[in-house]
Amino acid sequence: MLADEVRELLAVQPGATLVDGTFGAGGHSRLLAADLAGQGRLIAIDRDPEARMYFERVRRELPPQSRFLRGDFAVVLVQLAENGVEADAVILDLGISSMQIDKPERGFSYAVDAPLDMRMDPSATRSARDIVNELDERELADIFRRYGEERFARQIAQAIVRRRESQPFERTGELVETIKSAIPAPRRFGDGHPAKRVFQALRITVNEELESLERALPAALAMLRPGGRVAVISFHSLEDRIVKRFFAAEARGCVCPPDLPVCVCGREPRLRLVTRKAVRPSPQEVADNPRSASARLRVAARTETS
Ligand SMILES: C[S@@+](CC[C@H](N)C(=O)[O-])C[C@H]1O[C@@H](n2cnc3c(N)ncnc32)[C@H](O)[C@@H]1O
Repeated sequence: MLADEVRELLAVQPGATLVDGTFGAGGHSRLLAADLAGQGRLIAIDRDPEARMYFERVRRELPPQSRFLRGDFAVVLVQLAENGVEADAVILDLGISSMQIDKPERGFSYAVDAPLDMRMDPSATRSARDIVNELDERELADIFRRYGEERFARQIAQAIVRRRESQPFERTGELVETIKSAIPAPRRFGDGHPAKRVFQALRITVNEELESLERALPAALAMLRPGGRVAVISFHSLEDRIVKRFFAAEARGCVCPPDLPVCVCGREPRLRLVTRKAVRPSPQEVADNPRSASARLRVAARTETS
């Protein structure tokens, strides 16, 4: 996704160290590895153990020193930074991959009946099933509203709680039916699939996606060499806002209250914005891959002096 744009804006040089925090099927890594020209190294991270198989599959296209680390990028990036690993480029392509959506048994899709799971890391303790069956009505409504921008959040939460009193939720199909029953008939058909927003909200909650991103960005910055670049592709406004604010704060440097006439904190900018506005996919890319429509790319570079 946004492959040409990522390649141009990250401007990876031969011999560089590249960290791909969301390896997935390795699409971005393979593309960027071509710019490493067989030198340098790639550190590939993914919390989904299946990504390792994709890594092995494309290994010969990557520099010899490449390795795969399974885990949450928030944790792995912090560990790498603490161990003094330095990077010239870090990429985070957030959300789930096609390989995850296209496997019905992972429970990410509202289009196919499957166990209600949605964990990117199958060893994580809490699945969508636990959340749907255990959170109270207010908490559910809050999640649907906040992470899914669902207009009928309250009605859906109410219908879920009523339904689970007789039988706990086990499958995506049961949840889809309950969501449909809670949305007034005339509104059920606009705005995509009626379960789309609730599924997005549950996925974000199950995988603690926003918390991971909040923790990962400072670690990515800590790893960057002067001039090194970080690129983030996000898929909804909450993620993009976190990235935008982090980049803006680090590009400003000074943290003095705005009413002080002069800076007394002396903090220097640690990032320079490479993209002033988020880059969006071309109309051609959206036509070829409708899932890319909501993608936003932001890139920043570590300042030479920080
Ligand atoms: C959109 S896909 C990446 C696709 C990849 N760029 C490619 O070209 O094939 C996102 C991937 O990141 C992984 N992921 C999402 N959040 C993660 C996190 N916090 N830590 C580690 N991996 C994560 C998912 O498991 C998924 O494989």
